[in-house]
Amino acid sequence: MHLACPRCTSLAVFGRLPLFWYMMDNRFSCNVDDVSTSVSGLRTQPVLRMLQLKGRTLIPVVQGGMGVGISAGGLAGAVARAGGLGTISSVDLRRLHPDLMQRTGHLDKEPDAREIIEAANLEALDREIVRAKKLAQGKGMVAVNIMKALSQYQGYVQQALVSGADALVVGAGLPLDLPELARDFPNTALIPILSDARGVQLLVRKWEKRGRLPDAIVIEHPRLAGGHLGAANVADLQDLRFNFEVVLPQVLAFFQAHGLEGKIPLIVAGGISCHADIVRLQALGASAVQMGTAFAVTRECDAAPAFKRVLAQAKPKDIVEFVSVSGLPARAVRTPWLNKYLRIEPKLKAAAHLKKKCNMSFDCLAHCGLRDGDGSIGQFCIDQQLGHALDGDVHKGLFFRGAGTLPFGEEIRSVQELLDWMLVGTKPQVLEEVLL
Ligand SMILES: Cc1cc2nc3c(=O)[nH]c(=O)nc-3n(C[C@H](O)[C@H](O)[C@H](O)COP(=O)(O)O)c2cc1C
Ligand code: SF4
Repeated sequence: MHLACPRCTSLAVFGRLPLFWYMMDNRFSCNVDDVSTSVSGLRTQPVLRMLQLKGRTLIPVVQGGMGVGISAGGLAGAVARAGGLGTISSVDLRRLHPDLMQRTGHLDKEPDAREIIEAANLEALDREIVRAKKLAQGKGMVAVNIMKALSQYQGYVQQALVSGADALVVGAGLPLDLPELARDFPNTALIPILSDARGVQLLVRKWEKRGRLPDAIVIEHPRLAGGHLGAANVADLQDLRFNFEVVLPQVLAFFQAHGLEGKIPLIVAGGISCHADIVRLQALGASAVQMGTAFAVTRECDAAPAFKRVLAQAKPKDIVEFVSVSGLPARAVRTPWLNKYLRIEPKLKAAAHLKKKCNMSFDCLAHCGLRDGDGSIGQFCIDQQLGHALDGDVHKGLFFRGAGTLPFGEEIRSVQELLDWMLVGTKPQVLEEVLL
């Protein structure tokens, strides 16, 4: 039976993190059947299970990878230090390193431009992994997110492995070859990002034949998450098969039938914003939640303050879905650039033609609608637009964002404050006063 929790006046925190127990708080809808202990008249319950990953115990809140440069070593390291899985997005990280930009930013038609830029990006990835691990001080885990759709997918995978990432999180395409690519790194967790039960079944069966199981699977909800979305097209985003209430039981039934029960933790992503969400999703069988937008607006996020403000201040009516230049649907804030692009998109698509060279000289995508003249998909340079967003250029940038509400409204808060809210239900003090 699910009932609203009785009001209680205080929260008890057993140390800071990790948290196995918390005092029931009136803000959450809790399962009263779970209540197991009574201390000084206040009821306690074991609510959140910790995430078990490759023999390590982590808090059940994962920070999702966010490119370009939004989640780099700073954010991922802060999350790992708090006992979580912090994720560096691998794509075009040289943008965070002035010396690497000085070396590569001017390159255009030089025959070796692509090689030099790619080398700089791999060097930047190595630096960010080292930075994150240093910040983490041995706590939590540092992951690297790699999009399968990138032309440098294999290069980023190899670099992340060699540089000592604790986990690889791969989406934007089916990473069927990941077990082979990571064969020599059995201690690195391999985590694919999928959206429905069919994708999970397909990938698990193929990986099993290659002798390796996913160490966890991120199930990302295309109707709620930010960035590139795992659906066939924009209309498909609404399909009910993506609902957590549908996909989780289907995947768990597949695991049970396949003898995999309890072996592969499921991490759900998209639209998650409070402690009650974690309780509800763990009751459905998830092991942890992954959040993107809420981490993008933390103080530790590696993007410019203006980037964070655009995401934090966006209202539901400002958030729009469209088809990216990669061919995948995407979700972002309708900023001046995106508004203009969407207005002229039909014309750009009609005029699409094969270009002599890639806009940024390093061919970030394996298949690019703009470079390859594919008029059935997006017609803009995603690296350029995301780079503007990273710099906080409100007029020219493409600002990916999830569809959900943010825990602290327009406020920019710390990673620790966000985790306190998600794990214990504690709102930052000043915010609490404002709300009362
Ligand atoms: C600004 C931004 C950039 C993102 N970039 C990536 C990315 O490069 N790779 C990826 O796998 N997911 C990306 N995502 C998705 C997040 O990792 C996360 O799964 C998703 O945003 C969860 O939904 P939420 O924002 O509602 O919490 C991005 C999301 C945002 C908001
Ligand atoms: S044109 Fe832009 S989006 Fe396309 S491959 Fe080149 S850098 Fe990537």
